[in-house]
Amino acid sequence: MEVVIVPDARAGGELIAEAMAQLLRRKPEALLGVATGSTPLPVYEALAAKVRAGAVDTSRARVAQLDEYVGLPSEHPESYRSVLRREVLEPLWIDPNSFLGPDGTAADVPTACAEYEWELAVAGGVDLQLLGIGTDGHIGFNEPGSSLASRTRIKTLTQQTRVDNARFFDGDVDQVPHHVITQGIGTILEAQHLVLLATGEGKADAVAATVEGPLAAICPASALQLHPHATVVVDEAAASRLKLADYYRHTFANKPVWQGL
Ligand code: F6R
Repeated sequence: MEVVIVPDARAGGELIAEAMAQLLRRKPEALLGVATGSTPLPVYEALAAKVRAGAVDTSRARVAQLDEYVGLPSEHPESYRSVLRREVLEPLWIDPNSFLGPDGTAADVPTACAEYEWELAVAGGVDLQLLGIGTDGHIGFNEPGSSLASRTRIKTLTQQTRVDNARFFDGDVDQVPHHVITQGIGTILEAQHLVLLATGEGKADAVAATVEGPLAAICPASALQLHPHATVVVDEAAASRLKLADYYRHTFANKPVWQGL
């Protein structure tokens, strides 16, 4: 796993957006796996600026959703489908028909999950999966205790995650759904490249457990240790509990330019 310590969220956003732009220049029809929440916004903003400047062409790019609330109509402003339309598809000029996501309103949730796995496989798999991390170490909505081999399925959010997400629902935790459909950890690990962005002091413990803790379901993000191409981008605050921070800085500063992210 590569750990890149950046001065702030904006620098992290720029670094990851450039990796996405390079991928799209190599493979214009790349399938980008995207996360919602606050952390990835600087990535989407930096990539949108490149699109507007003509530095990258997204006309053939495809986007895959990581997770979705169960029971929120897709037109609800906080359904992740709506959020991604607003924060990713529109600013990046990506065709809405190039979007893959699970149906959070399906009457038959297990079938909807299996169909989404199938769609991802038929699409050729995710080229680059952008991830955030929960304060409890979740990726997607694989909460602590999730099988490290799990596939797309329904999960119950922890109370901590619902409290964390209440800010998107007028601060009212009761409006945050209890259930989500999330790509499983096994599903996420099939992407070609995993890029996890974490910013702020609140993520420091989860980042330390992910990078330097044991591989364990109690910290689902620790599954990144199993992936041959995983990049963890953290700002100084999120990096503050990493024991090997100086080594990560040294490694990145001396990285061969041809290697990219
Ligand atoms: C959302 C997702 C979650 C978030 C995580 C962090 O699609 O997959 O794992 O990335 O809850 O959320 P923020 O970035 O809002 O702190």
